[in-house]
Amino acid sequence: MKSMTIVELQTKVEEHDIKGFLAADEAAALYSWANRVAQFGPILEIGSYCGKSSLFLGSACKAHDSVLFAVDHHRGSEEHQLGELYHDPELFDPVAQKFDSLPTFRRNLELFALTDTVIAVVASSKLAAKAWATPLMMVFIDGGHSHAMAMADCDTWSRHLQSGGVLAVHDVFAHPEAGGQGPYLAVNSVLARGDFVWREQINSLAILQRR
Ligand SMILES: C[S@@+](CC[C@H](N)C(=O)[O-])C[C@H]1O[C@@H](n2cnc3c(N)ncnc32)[C@H](O)[C@@H]1O
Repeated sequence: MKSMTIVELQTKVEEHDIKGFLAADEAAALYSWANRVAQFGPILEIGSYCGKSSLFLGSACKAHDSVLFAVDHHRGSEEHQLGELYHDPELFDPVAQKFDSLPTFRRNLELFALTDTVIAVVASSKLAAKAWATPLMMVFIDGGHSHAMAMADCDTWSRHLQSGGVLAVHDVFAHPEAGGQGPYLAVNSVLARGDFVWREQINSLAILQRR
């Protein structure tokens, strides 16, 4: 199956000015880890926004004939709402009077020919988790960043990883002055369980692997 190289992907993402919150080194690391495990099972992400991370994870899945479940209610996090710091007026539905990243997410999947690889799950993480039963090979957590939400996401979804499965968590900052502590505390809590080992950190992206 024809797949794009990381350089081709990064170039196309830049050319199309894909909106999102993922640095180039983090995107490359996600792509690399996904490429290592996608052949053994599906990948799932929490928090797709306009699909930047989905494009990298999805492209790796496509190369291995696997699938990416992209879970997001597409109503934005607190900081994306009208009047908040990261609000983008282009992502506001004037009829519903609500934030909505789904149309842009969908357009981006089409642009990167990923509609046969990425399964959009338009739901909250909590709702999607209620009936989840499919074993996963990689989980990327980038949804709600509060302590409670990051803890719930990391704890719930990490338990669906198979042995050798990869847990990637975004916005992990060891020092409070660098950023919010929710994802950092959540990662430490998973590590304290003993069934995951620490692999590496790329920028703010932490990588753990199930024993
Ligand atoms: C920081 S953005 C994700 C950025 C994206 N991964 C990227 O590469 O650009 C966070 C996303 O998480 C979603 N989100 C927040 N809380 C959520 C929840 N409880 N369930 C599902 N999605 C959630 C928001 O709608 C938003 O699109």
